[in-house]
Amino acid sequence: MSQLDKYKRFTVTSALPYANGPLHIGHLAGAYLPADIFVRYLRLLKKDVVYICGSDEHGAAITIKAKKEGTTPQAIIDKYHQQIKQSFEDFGMSFDIYHRTSSAIHHDLSQEFFLNLYEKGEFIEKFSEQYYDEDFNQFLADRYITGTCPVCSNDRAYGDQCENCGTSLNPTDLINPISTLSGKAPVLKPTKHWYLPLDKYQPWLEKWIDEKEGEWKVNVFGQCRSWLKSGLQPRSMTRDLDWGIDVPLEEAKGKKLYVWMDAPIGYISATKQWAIDNNKNWQLYWKKQANEADETCLLHFIGKDNIVFHCIIFPAILKAHGEYVLPQNVPANEFLNLEGDKLSTSRNHAVWLHEYLEEFPGKQDELRYVLTSILPETSDSEFTWKDYQARVNNELVAILGNYVNRVMILMHKYYDGKVNANIKLTDAKINAELGGYYDELGKNLESYRFRQAMQNVMDMARLGNRYLTEQEPWKAIKNDAEAAKNALHNSLAIIGHIATCLQPFLPHTAERIFGMLNVEPFALDQEVEFASGHQLNPAALLFEKVEDEAIEKQIQKLADKKAAAVAAPKQVAVTPAKANVSFDDFVKMDIRTGTILTAEKVAKTKKLLKLTIDTGIDQRTVVSGIAEYYEPEAIIGKQVSILVNLEPREIKGIMSQGMILMAENAEGKLSFVAPVDTMDNGSVVR
Ligand code: MF3
Ligand code: ZN
Repeated sequence: MSQLDKYKRFTVTSALPYANGPLHIGHLAGAYLPADIFVRYLRLLKKDVVYICGSDEHGAAITIKAKKEGTTPQAIIDKYHQQIKQSFEDFGMSFDIYHRTSSAIHHDLSQEFFLNLYEKGEFIEKFSEQYYDEDFNQFLADRYITGTCPVCSNDRAYGDQCENCGTSLNPTDLINPISTLSGKAPVLKPTKHWYLPLDKYQPWLEKWIDEKEGEWKVNVFGQCRSWLKSGLQPRSMTRDLDWGIDVPLEEAKGKKLYVWMDAPIGYISATKQWAIDNNKNWQLYWKKQANEADETCLLHFIGKDNIVFHCIIFPAILKAHGEYVLPQNVPANEFLNLEGDKLSTSRNHAVWLHEYLEEFPGKQDELRYVLTSILPETSDSEFTWKDYQARVNNELVAILGNYVNRVMILMHKYYDGKVNANIKLTDAKINAELGGYYDELGKNLESYRFRQAMQNVMDMARLGNRYLTEQEPWKAIKNDAEAAKNALHNSLAIIGHIATCLQPFLPHTAERIFGMLNVEPFALDQEVEFASGHQLNPAALLFEKVEDEAIEKQIQKLADKKAAAVAAPKQVAVTPAKANVSFDDFVKMDIRTGTILTAEKVAKTKKLLKLTIDTGIDQRTVVSGIAEYYEPEAIIGKQVSILVNLEPREIKGIMSQGMILMAENAEGKLSFVAPVDTMDNGSVVR
């Protein structure tokens, strides 16, 4: 019947999420829900399939998050791996294994892969000049270098990007680069790295990708073509980093594998772990077989931001290794937006999965249904809570739930829930229509058109409702008992078909319907039959209406988050930390509390005030650059902290004896650093 029949087995992966934050609906709509539907469909067809996922626990995504939270990368991955795993489980994802890339089995396999390519001479070894922090004795990742942006002069640009003007940078583009570790200027030092010559694979990749035209989704194929068109360059497979998998070479001490030379191999190491746990042969699910017809069909479900890695870089790695199969398809999705805006973790503009599951307990299938209906399959799409409400109320409740409920209620009312004839669908017209939906459903699923496939199942429920309305068994029961019985028993069979086809999409609902029908789930190729005398279970509502209140609460919550994100002190880059000083150095500074006695502007300057300070030791003159922040009159009598043993210096012809301590934020805003309680002048600050 299907294209799928030509494969012996299937290896299906969903992109390994970075363990650096919780999951949101955008993740689900990209790489997870479609894969889960597809895998459940394969299992219904009784195919041999393994479905792989896990946490991606290396790369800058993790170290940056650790830095932000002021903790270690290990603490970050432990926290979010657990949380992500739990959310997936609660949502009903049917991975065969949810693994992690920090595991030993994965480190070993990644190193094995690297060595395999190394020993075959697949890498080019190249020296490049890279910034190095001499105090910390390490090379600096791009994010650990700040400096002035050559484009917009923002002095807090990062080595990979200026967040002020958005320009993508190399560390050597920065003017006055500073290491965020030591606060000092880094030096350029040659460092050796191992490059995969993607240019060498270009002809082969072009041919391979070209063969996928018409088979792969246009968005995926198009992106691959445009990458190839712009010409592939050698890409470094190693990094000077302190978090990741060690490069397994003596001469590469301290270097780590590039995260894309590690993460996708996570699919394979996870499969190995699954095979150990389940007494399987992992090689069947990854390696080429003597006979091509025995090979697995490898499918990667991802979001569009990962296309180049799964369609170009990882295949090149697999090809270079030589023993592995290549992906048969990479059905990547576009992005999901939320209420008219991009989903954003940093702005907290998201519907978080763990929060949804808490606030809508037992409503996994409602979310599955809505997301499936709006999957960004060919272009970006949008989730809104009003649309969620409309789809649940007008489709799940009014069409599917209502149909099942009407039939179940009538079966109980007229026949005490007993099936009293062997039933199979007898109505030829209905039979044909259902058959058509089955065909459509299969075709749509096998072409990764999950939105349409979902509607095929809903169309079965629409058909059921229509049939029931036409037959009017509630009227027939009074004058034509046989016709009523026939109509309801046919309806029961339709429900059996709906539940069968619903399994990949709304597994919890399908299970509840089978529970009401009091039968084991039907397989796709199985007759929908009930024995005569079969007892149905009581009718229960499948779905509840979503009230306005619940939706308004969610909309309000998003608005509150947005307001909070705006009101929250803007996340400004903090001036890099300086190198440590000894305690002895610190106590050399004599800092006292003092009081401002007089203040006046220094002529012909914008910034300077001339102050007289009572330091407790003496009264002295200090010139301070605070005129743009403080009016002279307003600060007379204020207490301040003053460094009294700073060598006097002449500023604009005035001898300045000491320095007033000021706090200065990243935007240059100033404030006195003064004792919170009034202190005697001359009190020691330490
Ligand atoms: N962690 C990456 C991301 O979230 C995806 C990794 S996919 C894999 O974008 F192939 F590398 F595993
Ligand atoms: Zn800039």
